[in-house]
Amino acid sequence: MTPDPIAEVVAAREEARRRKDAHVDVCFLATVGAQGRPEARPVSLRDIDAGGFGMLLNARSPKWRQIERSGQCSLTILWSSVERQYRVYGALRPMHPDRLRFWWARKVLGSRLLEHYYEAYTSQSEPLASRAAFLDGIAELGRRYPDATSVPAPEGLRGVCLWPTEIDVWHASPADRLHDRRRFTRRGEDWTIETLVP
Ligand SMILES: Cc1cc2nc3c(=O)[nH]c(=O)nc-3n(C[C@H](O)[C@H](O)[C@H](O)COP(=O)(O)O)c2cc1C
Repeated sequence: MTPDPIAEVVAAREEARRRKDAHVDVCFLATVGAQGRPEARPVSLRDIDAGGFGMLLNARSPKWRQIERSGQCSLTILWSSVERQYRVYGALRPMHPDRLRFWWARKVLGSRLLEHYYEAYTSQSEPLASRAAFLDGIAELGRRYPDATSVPAPEGLRGVCLWPTEIDVWHASPADRLHDRRRFTRRGEDWTIETLVP
């Protein structure tokens, strides 16, 4: 029976939260863009459990199109308060609908209106005529949905979990800089561990 790397990540996150790590709920999602260009951006990290590493993305975004086209993405997590980095590889799976509802319920009004903006006006990361034009659109949506609870989850919202098949763990050793590196690879129900050159 090998140690479960997901349990290790969950424990490290609890400790990072206790230490008020600014990035405890953030990960970096990497995708493959046009002509193989690597693209990475921070996204909010939701649940971490046996189902994987949860995120909310919009289907009307470059990152989503890149994932659909290439079938590939990976995550990097850096929690400096606990001196740990994780690189996570695997397959994207849908988030459980209950958890998607849970996370949608936690979004503030502006964040919910923005998700609707992608559908009602212009997709995420597309150019705009001006910031004022954008705010006009948000104001219009605000008149339609005056408070957060009245805003339904839009069709394009995707709750997904990166179900890991490989987790590369980097644990800093600041005193001598000879950091500890382990690679966990899923083998059926279990994981194999290799020690890597840091
Ligand atoms: C701390 C932080 C958290 C973010 N969380 C999310 C998120 O949960 N989902 C998301 O789609 N974008 C999130 N973003 C915005 C993305 O980094 C990115 O700018 C946006 O999704 C457009 O990416 P794309 O053009 O590659 O699709 C976040 C940005 C920051 C700085």
